[in-house]
Amino acid sequence: MAVDFDLIVAEGLAALAAADGSGALERWRVAHLGRSAPVMAALGTLGALPKEDRRAFGQRGNQARQALERAYEEAAARVRQAELSRDLEAGAVDVTAPGRRRGRGRLHPTTRTLRKIYAIFGEMGFQIYRSRDVETDEYNFSLLNIPPHHPARDMWDTFYTTAPNVILRTHTSPGQIHVMRERCPEPIRVILPGMCYRYEQITARSDIQFYQVEGLAIGRRITMADLKGTLTAFAHALFGSEVRTRFRADHFPFTEPSAEMDVECFVCEGQGCPVCKQSGWLEILGCGMVHPVVLQNGGYDPREFSGFAFGMGPQRITMLMHKIEDIRYFFSNDVRFLEQF
Ligand code: PHE
Repeated sequence: MAVDFDLIVAEGLAALAAADGSGALERWRVAHLGRSAPVMAALGTLGALPKEDRRAFGQRGNQARQALERAYEEAAARVRQAELSRDLEAGAVDVTAPGRRRGRGRLHPTTRTLRKIYAIFGEMGFQIYRSRDVETDEYNFSLLNIPPHHPARDMWDTFYTTAPNVILRTHTSPGQIHVMRERCPEPIRVILPGMCYRYEQITARSDIQFYQVEGLAIGRRITMADLKGTLTAFAHALFGSEVRTRFRADHFPFTEPSAEMDVECFVCEGQGCPVCKQSGWLEILGCGMVHPVVLQNGGYDPREFSGFAFGMGPQRITMLMHKIEDIRYFFSNDVRFLEQF
């Protein structure tokens, strides 16, 4: 039986040239160098040959097998290289490409207003005083000249805890008593920012929790003129130096006299619009001269000391400045709202 080793090699090499990936290459190896490959099958017949032919046959067979093996090794190296460069290309990183921008957080609109308020009063020499959110009935009402059963308590219905007389503060004013008792008989210039709580129907205009910034100045010759000057300077710093202000008489049990401060509507410049309800004015804060009883409760002798106090709602101010129509946006944490600032 004549075996044409040259043909076996030629056919093997031709098939190998077409093997273009590691899978095809492996199939080729099994077909052309595996146990039933032509060259192996031929070599397997060696024993059946006449003795004198075996040496030459074996040599040619081995050469053919080695030729196929060498070709295989080369092809394997080539395929490996090709696959490696394809992988590198596919997974390539373009180091010159611009990076993807990180979404950056920003300050909540109320925080921005609060910080402006702090900065303005800071320039005027006011310190920030942090008072507690949880208060006793006494601090929230009685020491502020609102005795039990006083009808003014109806204005500030709140959340009661299971501990007797322990409530969530309805305004930042109880902080006035804390500062006074701590600082007496020193003069005082502080603002007291913080959260307040009221038992209210949640609507577009009122929430059960909201910020207030209280202010308190106590000294020996503080008059209503100081109150008006300080709050007018504040309004000019926050809303612009041209904006007009006005004070209207009002009533709070802990100040006497009491007033509300309005600023000229900055949306319509006093012409009248929906934001100011056609009045041309926006109500910004409540204020007044600290009531003698409150001074006394804080430890100050009202014959020697006097002072003024005010309280404002920074969220309401933020709503006016940005024409925000619903106070519930502030705590609903909707990024579509927050991203606008
Ligand atoms: N505490 C008052 C309120 O919540 C505001 C206020 C503070 C008024 C200080 C006068 C002086 O409505």
